[in-house]
Amino acid sequence: MSSRIVGGRLSSKWLIFCAFLVILMILHMPSWIDEIDPIALSATESSFLVPTHGGNLSDSKAMKKKYFVHTSKCRIPYIDPFSEGAMKLYSPRLFIPCSNESELVSAIYNPNLRRYVLHINQAVAHQLLNSTEKEFNCFYREIKHGKKADTYDMLNPSKYFSQGYVVPLHVEGMLLDCETAELPPITLQKDAYMFIQYREMPAAAKPTKHTPRKPSVIMYGIDTLSRINLRRTMPLVHEYLRGPGWYEMQGYNKVVGDNSFPNIFAILSGYSPEKAKEHICDTDKSGCLDEIPMIWKYFKNASYLTAYAEDESSSNTFSYLKPGFSKTPTDYYFRPFLRALEEETVNYHCPGCRMVYCMGRRLANSYVYDYCRQFMQRYVKERPIWGMFWSNHFSHDDYFMPSAMQHKVLGDLLDYERDGAFEDTIMIFFADHGVRYGTLLDLDEGYLEERLPMMFIYLPPWFREQYPEYSAALELNQHRLSSNFDLHNTLKHIIELGGTPDGPKLPKSFDCPTCQSLFYPIGESRTCSEAGIEEHWCTCEPYKTIGYLGWSNRIAPRVIERMNEYFVHKNLSHLCSNVSLHYIHKTEIKTGLDITWNGELPQLETAVYRTKFKVQQNSADFQATVVFNNITEVVELDVEKISRTNSYKEDSTCINDKIAKLYCICFSDLKS
Ligand SMILES: *[C@@H]1O[C@H](CO)[C@@H](O)[C@H](O)[C@H]1NC(C)=O
Ligand SMILES: *[C@@H]1O[C@H](CO)[C@@H](O)[C@H](O)[C@H]1NC(C)=O
Ligand SMILES: *[C@@H]1O[C@H](CO)[C@@H](O)[C@H](O)[C@H]1NC(C)=O
Ligand SMILES: *[C@@H]1O[C@H](CO)[C@@H](O)[C@H](O)[C@H]1NC(C)=O
Ligand SMILES: *[C@@H]1O[C@H](CO)[C@@H](O)[C@H](O)[C@H]1NC(C)=O
Ligand SMILES: *[C@@H]1O[C@H](CO)[C@@H](O)[C@H](O)[C@H]1NC(C)=O
Ligand SMILES: *[C@@H]1O[C@H](CO)[C@@H](O)[C@H](O)[C@H]1NC(C)=O
Repeated sequence: MSSRIVGGRLSSKWLIFCAFLVILMILHMPSWIDEIDPIALSATESSFLVPTHGGNLSDSKAMKKKYFVHTSKCRIPYIDPFSEGAMKLYSPRLFIPCSNESELVSAIYNPNLRRYVLHINQAVAHQLLNSTEKEFNCFYREIKHGKKADTYDMLNPSKYFSQGYVVPLHVEGMLLDCETAELPPITLQKDAYMFIQYREMPAAAKPTKHTPRKPSVIMYGIDTLSRINLRRTMPLVHEYLRGPGWYEMQGYNKVVGDNSFPNIFAILSGYSPEKAKEHICDTDKSGCLDEIPMIWKYFKNASYLTAYAEDESSSNTFSYLKPGFSKTPTDYYFRPFLRALEEETVNYHCPGCRMVYCMGRRLANSYVYDYCRQFMQRYVKERPIWGMFWSNHFSHDDYFMPSAMQHKVLGDLLDYERDGAFEDTIMIFFADHGVRYGTLLDLDEGYLEERLPMMFIYLPPWFREQYPEYSAALELNQHRLSSNFDLHNTLKHIIELGGTPDGPKLPKSFDCPTCQSLFYPIGESRTCSEAGIEEHWCTCEPYKTIGYLGWSNRIAPRVIERMNEYFVHKNLSHLCSNVSLHYIHKTEIKTGLDITWNGELPQLETAVYRTKFKVQQNSADFQATVVFNNITEVVELDVEKISRTNSYKEDSTCINDKIAKLYCICFSDLKS
């Protein structure tokens, strides 16, 4: 009995002591958190998640909340990629090999000859022949650039080759075919190779001892991959990217538009398509893309060799509902070879995949990333290069498919490392945006998935040594708000580094005069508009869901009216159905960083709202960010900035306008 009383007293003392500790911890919150979690993306609590009554132990878990960015004007919360909600949706995808056979013919680069040599693997031949006796022959057909920049020619006839064949310098691509010598011949194996053939450096381009060393820049891109989904689907790749020399721009926020084109265009040109249309030319018009001062033109002028490669010709950044290039844009340009691969090899689509998964006996992306590898092997030790290598096919349609590709991508990085490429090259490992439609977007953190593409920058050791202030700035900027336009300026900065110190300064991002190179510290108080990021895409300021109050439901119908007016204005009324509200998924109000709303909404006449709703026509989903006046009921918004949050592929086949396609439900596609 007495011991129980003692016990009781003890535990109440303990309780008081614990409560005291908790209060202490709360009073000293910032330093306490830093101690617990030193890499913490810095962490005082933001008002929108933590209830203002303190002292509840179960809340202290929320207080350890981490951030990608935590500055005075911007708080981008860190999202647990393995959250319960996400894990309910996530299932890793199975890697499907394109072929189980070993390669019969290997193309091996001989650095002394500076030529590719074809090696026929006899053991594989015996296996495929089921015999060590039988004879076989190998032939190739050359793939050449066609007359137009985007086309190819296949040269006839097939050329016979034997062991140790030295590929002529003019051959940049080939399809090969080995077959038995009997009649009729049986095909043993078909394959395809694209070559980065060595080109001598013009004397004028040779560096003099007065010019600083020029770093090569390689951009390795994967379509549709947020930093959150990278961590979820490719944890091994993410682990690799945490290694020395790598910096993750955790505050990198896409600037505009739904899809790849405007976001990549911003990086490569410093313009939005609208501003380019005003000041240079209309990117929808044939020939315009040739006129745009793309970054590779500046690199070329600074005597860099340039390359561009992408897979999936119909969804290419510059060709999906865009005219593409009419002149070959870069020194090495992969697109004609891609067209040949798509036309001349057996294409395999994985189950449910729209894009081509295998071309011939290899993965679609392997041609692109192998082209990248050869480009670096050929040149990085000798002269500066710039290249962009981009894959759509495995990540664009199924946002969990990168899980199947993680060993492939990690393998690429390890290959580049083994080749020594990272001793010389700045690498940008990046995406254009995150998931744009589907169930992941229904999660509370869905808007972050969409807006926060992965962005990693690698600086080689010599560069870090030569420019310690730039690497220090890049390190700091990992947790500052940054954008595509900053990356554009960084590329220009790199070009300037290789020139004479008093050489001409290059024009910076046209669309964002307040943007800067990531090699300079970004201001602590930077806002989205200062980084060229539109309100609708800005992840800096939190939103709070408003319950189904009658008045908040007045916003979506106003947005829908504006969409219908848009169809009239764009002369699309005869093709696109007017839309009408089915139901509202959710309405949120922007809370601002400093407001502590204790459950109650303050009375504001105008505020920024985000509303996500479904229309009756084909159950299409949209999300709009608007300024709404609660008294006058006026909404301010630009219809072309509304997000479409489910697939529009089957809804807008009657029009080609890249933007209107997001909103138009064609009469011809209406489902009853
Ligand atoms: C502490 O917070 C939890 C979860 O919000 C709640 O269930 C619990 O009632 C709270 N306890 C106190 C003492 O406020
Ligand atoms: C490779 O082998 C696996 C397992 O035997 C088989 O399921 C798959 O279909 C094969 N793939 C090809 C392309 O032959
Ligand atoms: C070797 O054997 C496999 C399996 O029996 C057969 O499909 C293939 O056609 C044979 N190859 C040749 C060259 O006869
Ligand atoms: C490249 O150099 C040429 C010749 O000096 C010049 O006309 C052109 O404008 C330059 N291009 C860029 C993008 O700087
Ligand atoms: C569609 O909406 C526009 C704009 O509000 C309106 O002018 C037009 O009459 C509507 N059309 C139909 C068929 O309701
Ligand atoms: C729509 O059509 C009218 C009349 O044909 C024309 O004047 C107007 O420029 C067109 N508007 C657009 C956006 O194409
Ligand atoms: C909007 O107005 C309604 C009354 O019409 C009011 O209840 C509500 O709090 C207001 N909302 C805001 C955010 O001010």
